[in-house]
Amino acid sequence: MPETARRIVLASRPVGEPKPSDFRLEEFAVPQPGPGQMLLRTKWLSLDPYMRGRMSDAPSYAKPVGIDEVMEAGTVSEVVESNNPKYQKGDIVLSRAGWQTHMLSDGSGLRKLDPNVAPVSTALGVLGMPGMTAYAGLLEIGKPQPGETVVVSAASGAVGSVVGQIARIKGARAVGIAGGPDKCRYVKEELGFDECIDHRAPDFPDKLKTACPKGIDAYFENVSGAVWDAVFPLLNTFARIPVCGLIAQYSATEAPEMKFRTSQIFRAVLTKRLTIRGFIVTDFAAKHADFQRDVPQWIKEGKIKYREDIADGLENAPAAFMGMLKGKNFGKQLVRIAE
Ligand SMILES: NC(=O)c1ccc[n+]([C@@H]2O[C@H](COP(=O)([O-])OP(=O)(O)OC[C@H]3O[C@@H](n4cnc5c(N)ncnc54)[C@H](OP(=O)(O)O)[C@@H]3O)[C@@H](O)[C@H]2O)c1
Repeated sequence: MPETARRIVLASRPVGEPKPSDFRLEEFAVPQPGPGQMLLRTKWLSLDPYMRGRMSDAPSYAKPVGIDEVMEAGTVSEVVESNNPKYQKGDIVLSRAGWQTHMLSDGSGLRKLDPNVAPVSTALGVLGMPGMTAYAGLLEIGKPQPGETVVVSAASGAVGSVVGQIARIKGARAVGIAGGPDKCRYVKEELGFDECIDHRAPDFPDKLKTACPKGIDAYFENVSGAVWDAVFPLLNTFARIPVCGLIAQYSATEAPEMKFRTSQIFRAVLTKRLTIRGFIVTDFAAKHADFQRDVPQWIKEGKIKYREDIADGLENAPAAFMGMLKGKNFGKQLVRIAE
């Protein structure tokens, strides 16, 4: 029986939280590579919050996925047939195949991975885009100094977990914010943050204040909403705020209720001389070599730990993705497509 390929396409643009009918699983014939091309088979699919943005056609920094088009994603793939002299059958590559089992490639945009150096799935997490986001956003904008207090939201996740651990490497106090006692315990006990506060606890703002007795010198924003409302009054003079993500708003259908008005925020920006800077990881491409030098070394030294949350099978990608947007993932969300 010839192998059948499968893909998940965007069936409709979600209004509010994505739902199963916004996705459609399709089968198609495994494509045949032409001259210079190769056939890639997906091993690992990365699920990331930015994909919620790609499902919407609201103006953004990147083009949306079109209706009936394959959902976009970073992947780790195996070369199963090659007419390209630079790649051999059996090579493992970092690719952008999207939510599908097979793809043709002419080799552009691919990076070979060495499974002897690190598990290849880490190229989508701690050693990939989320790790680089944490590294560059924290060091280039957050600029943690010894003895300072660094707070990060979504602290058990792919980006946040690395932010807090790098803050500690730089001699700062790391305070995480995460959803629920299990995630908070992991962040404190396994990742070594100084504190981790549950944003779902009714007295969350008070607890955060107690955890930051000297205020907050850098806040790595992944979430927005009620978490920002609790952080904002604690910011110190000259605090730095890398604005990395606003996941609490991604599926909002109207402007979220937030406690502080623009006038109050601008007043604090002026009087406390705050630096609030949004960034997209690709802004810091020039730092990629530094990232590739430092983070693998810190992992080797046991200074950075990571956790993966693995769903099995392409058909389970939509549920895992919808769950991640609600905090059901515990660590970097991946889908294992093939061994
Ligand atoms: N700027 C960039 O270039 C860039 C690149 C990569 C990622 N990002 C952003 O970085 C952030 C983290 O991404 P990630 O890949 O590391 O994902 P992640 O943290 O592994 O997963 C998302 C987490 O967000 C938290 N969350 C969801 N809704 C929330 C809410 N209403 N309030 C508080 N927390 C909520 C949940 O954690 P809890 O259970 O702990 O609440 C969930 O587990 C996202 O905002 C993403 O868009 C930005």
